[in-house]
Amino acid sequence: MKTFNLQLRFLLPLVLVITAAAYLALPVMDRLTLRWFARDLNMRGALVANALSESVAEALQDPRGRKLQALFNRAVQDERLVAIGWCSPLGQLLVRTPSFPTNLSCGEAGEVAGRPDPELRIEGGPVLLSMHAIQAEAGPVGHLVLMHDLSFIERRSQDTRRYLILLLAGTGAIMALVTMAVAQWSWRGWVSGTRALLRGEGLVRPLSSPAPELAPLAEELRSRMRDLEDEYRRNREHEAGWDAQRLQSLLKTQLRGDQVIVVSNREPYIHDRRPDGSVAVRRPASGLVTAVEPVMRACSGTWIAHGSGTADRDVVDRRDHVSLPPGEDEYRLRRIWLTPEQEQGYYYGFANEGLWPLCHVAHVRPVFREADWQHYREVNERFADAVVAEARGDDPVVLVQDYHFALLPAMVRRKLPRATILTFWHIPWPNPESFGICPWRAEILEGMLGSTILGFHTPFHCKNFIDAVDRYLEARIEHEHSAISFRGEQTFVEAYPISIEWPTPQAAQHWPSPADCRRQVGEQLGIPRDHQLAVGVDRFDYTKGILERLHAVERLLEKYPQWRDRFTFVQVAAPTRATLEEYQAFQQRIQQVAQRINQRFATGGRDVVRLLAEHHEHDAVNRLYRAADACLVTSLHDGMNLVCKEFVAARDDEQGVLILSRFAGAARDMPEALIVNPYHVEEVADALHRALTMPAAEQRERMANLRSTVREFNVYRWAGRMLTDAARWRLRERVSLRVQRHAGE
Ligand code: F6P
Repeated sequence: MKTFNLQLRFLLPLVLVITAAAYLALPVMDRLTLRWFARDLNMRGALVANALSESVAEALQDPRGRKLQALFNRAVQDERLVAIGWCSPLGQLLVRTPSFPTNLSCGEAGEVAGRPDPELRIEGGPVLLSMHAIQAEAGPVGHLVLMHDLSFIERRSQDTRRYLILLLAGTGAIMALVTMAVAQWSWRGWVSGTRALLRGEGLVRPLSSPAPELAPLAEELRSRMRDLEDEYRRNREHEAGWDAQRLQSLLKTQLRGDQVIVVSNREPYIHDRRPDGSVAVRRPASGLVTAVEPVMRACSGTWIAHGSGTADRDVVDRRDHVSLPPGEDEYRLRRIWLTPEQEQGYYYGFANEGLWPLCHVAHVRPVFREADWQHYREVNERFADAVVAEARGDDPVVLVQDYHFALLPAMVRRKLPRATILTFWHIPWPNPESFGICPWRAEILEGMLGSTILGFHTPFHCKNFIDAVDRYLEARIEHEHSAISFRGEQTFVEAYPISIEWPTPQAAQHWPSPADCRRQVGEQLGIPRDHQLAVGVDRFDYTKGILERLHAVERLLEKYPQWRDRFTFVQVAAPTRATLEEYQAFQQRIQQVAQRINQRFATGGRDVVRLLAEHHEHDAVNRLYRAADACLVTSLHDGMNLVCKEFVAARDDEQGVLILSRFAGAARDMPEALIVNPYHVEEVADALHRALTMPAAEQRERMANLRSTVREFNVYRWAGRMLTDAARWRLRERVSLRVQRHAGE
């Protein structure tokens, strides 16, 4: 149908042009042929007159004119000569053949002959009239009037017209056929060419790799197609909405209740011994835990993590299991015990002094020590063994979390070849050059390629990873499917932006109102009622841009002095990795800068910056979010950053302004925030001023949009998308296994 339409578009104008050409050409042709024939006949007339002149002179000797009559009668037997008349020198018609019109005088004949178009219609049809003077020795003796038949010209002209029409029609038909053939051929060529492009094949050599000059076009087309598919999928998911129930039903239907095992370093609940000997349960400050825990509650699976609490050993069973959440028993935690050396080498050393700065590119040098690497491998092996021990069958779904376990996927793949391994990298992935400085770059990539699906927050991180594999391993990469084949196994690399659990209305209805939160926070921290309040909530980490944020607060107070006695900034900084030198130095620096700002701008004994370097439980953080006029998230580089999503989720009053670093993964999907470059102090200070002076209506509009994004793109959707892809993959594996079995039977 498409080809037919295309051909019609060619054919219709062609037919119109040919018809118009014929319409214009025919009368022109008629006139031309008539003129040519008239000229020929005139010449013929002159010849005839010449030939007859002697005979006429002789015949004139007969005074009765009989000889002349006889001569004329003989002459008109010529089929072209229709009539002849003889005019005396006085202009009298003396002799004429029978067909000569009786009413035509010599004068009139002379007039017609003098016209440029000497045509005359007589009884027998159209004739061409010519008049020729006849000379005798004595001088002119009269005029010969000759009438040549013109009807044959008309007949010929009709024939010519017919031939011309046939010629034009024939040419038109041939052109149409050629056009159709070319269109057909070109269309097919285009379609198959475009398909080949989209498949990653070349137009010119469809079976080989794409011509290099077409590669960018092909890549662009493919990425556009992927975007469209993503958008389509997003739209469909957007309509349906993800929640715990939907995730549970996905697990039941698509994964048929298969076992789900999560592996992470950080445990979701930490049991600590208080000084009085009692046990306290605490939720760690961890984006990973915030995201994975609700998923785990929905899956009722097994979570394997490092037991790092001082009372962790006291609450587990014989097999190091504890049911969680405390008192609700929705899933099981298997704790792994590490020696202090292992923890130092694997967690503090290789993971946090090596991979963490390597991936964040936040101007802190990565440190790589051989001993740390050995511990890292050892601990990965231990966790891999734990996965095997916890697996009820040979094909569990294993969700590997983060940069602490880059080697584990390949280890589990070796032990449980049929397992579906989903690895999610919670931090950024750097460009191949930056990654290349890691001495064990190949081992890390190989370890990660043990995964069935490898997830990052953004397509940009996926691309960096694929580029690194391309650079450092001998692997086959199918860009159009984001698939990497390495040593006979395939890994799909995909972006799954992580999120938070959207608070249920039941939970939200117990929250104190924003005004109450503001009052409570004010009372607790001694912040006057008329102060505007900005907050930052982070782990005390150099990647979070806390220093840059403080500089921006300082600049705000310099540049906009009206805030000097009307503004307070509260920074929650949850202690983290505090045994590492880099962190200690950073934390000291922050304390000093906060102190300096307070010395400069404190009024009435009140500090402008309140640095709360201690762990805060979820309720306390939520209260702070609800009390704040603005929330500052200024990471220098972050995989996603869930704090910004938590702030948005807390603001059911649709007030409060989010200031968000453009280097956080979340910035991609949260354009209604005030997006800033955290390194640009002036810009952040201005954004802060803008946030503090933003009209309520604008805050509402921005916040409402942010809320609807985070509500829909929640953590269940993150897990749901990964698990749906895993389920599809498992189904394909099962089918192909069955097919192989049948083939072997
Ligand atoms: O940001 C990466 C990450 O693993 C997060 O998922 C988590 O919030 C944080 O680091 C945890 O750090 P740690 O467990 O070392 O305190």
